[in-house]
Amino acid sequence: MAERKPLISGNWKMHHTHLEAIAMVQKLSYLLTDADYHVTDVSVHPAFTALRSIQTILDADRIPIALGAQNCYWEPRGAYTGEISPLMLAKLAVSFVIVGHSERRQIFGETDEWVNRKAKAVLANGMTPIVCCGETLEERQAGLTSSLCLGQIGGSLAGLTAEQVAGIVIAYEPIWAIGTGVVATPEDAQAVIGAIRIEVGNLFGADAAAAVRIQYGGSVKPGNIAVLMSQPDIDGALVGGASLDAEEFSRIVRYRAG
Ligand code: PGA
Repeated sequence: MAERKPLISGNWKMHHTHLEAIAMVQKLSYLLTDADYHVTDVSVHPAFTALRSIQTILDADRIPIALGAQNCYWEPRGAYTGEISPLMLAKLAVSFVIVGHSERRQIFGETDEWVNRKAKAVLANGMTPIVCCGETLEERQAGLTSSLCLGQIGGSLAGLTAEQVAGIVIAYEPIWAIGTGVVATPEDAQAVIGAIRIEVGNLFGADAAAAVRIQYGGSVKPGNIAVLMSQPDIDGALVGGASLDAEEFSRIVRYRAG
């Protein structure tokens, strides 16, 4: 079985103007080396307004950080005021698009059906979706974590082929851990992520389950990343707050260094 290369992604959310984003990527490129990129894939997900600036820098300086977006609509064009299409992102050399982040689901009412349409549109435009799932504290306390996450994954990936699923990224992000400083224990994160991998196997076959990369997200910091990454099914991290600082994020990318 091929090794799954870790993917560490910085989700900048609604932070960093394009000027701040430029400074951030320049610092990051100074801190990370080819040795880091060799063993770990890295993506940054700026706001839409900074994508073009960051694309230009990554391209001009040949920095092997993948460009990511935080969301998109599913239509290629049309009368959808305020939306951004996957085609527009693909033209900016975006590689990864986060779909179904819990903030999109909770604040903007996105459903599994929407997330599914977005994931398909991202794939159709040659990019990779990072499909998010995760439970609230109440759902966890009610013992619903696994059934809820597996339901979100089943709904969000419906109709994808096994080959497509093998190439996507899933992010398990317990909502109670996002931005709270309360990280899931490595064992809890592994339990849910292991269950997600089994479900991918049930739905799409063993090859897809063995290949799909599954990230953990929720209060990932330089101090807790290594132990999370030591779990067998955790293939990377989706990092919010700690990705806003280049030094902190570079330490997360270099989690092997301790
Ligand atoms: P956090 O956010 O690292 O600030 O908890 C993670 C996320 O929402 O992707």
